[in-house]
Amino acid sequence: MERRPEPELMLDPAQARAYAEADFSAPHEHFVDLFAERFPGWVDGLVLDLGCGPGDVSLRFAARYPACIVHGIDGSSAMLAAGEEIRRAHPAAPRVRLHQGVLPDASGPGAPYPTIISNSLLHHLPDPRVLWAVIRRDGAPGTDVFVMDLCRPASPERVDALVAAYANDAPEVLRGDFENSLYAAFTVDEVRAQLDAAGLESFRVEAVSDRHLVAWGRL
Ligand SMILES: C[S@@+](CC[C@H](N)C(=O)[O-])C[C@H]1O[C@@H](n2cnc3c(N)ncnc32)[C@H](O)[C@@H]1O
Repeated sequence: MERRPEPELMLDPAQARAYAEADFSAPHEHFVDLFAERFPGWVDGLVLDLGCGPGDVSLRFAARYPACIVHGIDGSSAMLAAGEEIRRAHPAAPRVRLHQGVLPDASGPGAPYPTIISNSLLHHLPDPRVLWAVIRRDGAPGTDVFVMDLCRPASPERVDALVAAYANDAPEVLRGDFENSLYAAFTVDEVRAQLDAAGLESFRVEAVSDRHLVAWGRL
């Protein structure tokens, strides 16, 4: 099935609010679990979260690693604002700072970072090379990198089945988002080709669920 890109930035306040209020605890805890499995000795440091949205992954990562500091960056002030109240109440919030900036023009304020993470940004980018170029630019030799994203299904029928399985009870705006994101996502083979073209041949990529893939490695 052909890729069908979706709008890059999530600028609509209603969409951003629905996203910030949705319960992503299962996939986002899974993100941190998968990071921990792939970087078992990792305990500390400054982390850049690319396309952080309302900051749920940044907060969960900071909560799991109580000595780290997370900088997030996102191009949508609506997304950053939508998560503000939730962030204020979170115990890890003092170690999480989110910034507004559109990649690749903006960069993480603490670059170069020893660790870079990103969840569900890749499929939003019209040109996926942007993510890998930003990772190279805002990282340094030795930087740990962990990226998770949706994986494009093989057919529209498979998209419908995933939407029914995981977003049946979600508000309409989120169900539509999820469907568009599945069409916009890349396959494991496409991400492999992106990594090779970006000079990240040592990185690995694999499917980790019926709808997610991860790519990870050390610069
Ligand atoms: C699906 S959300 C994921 C948010 C967050 N990482 C999470 O897992 O909850 C994708 C986010 O990427 C942001 N984004 C898309 N393109 C971007 C760009 N070029 N620069 C910065 N942020 C971008 C969008 O505004 C949106 O907040």
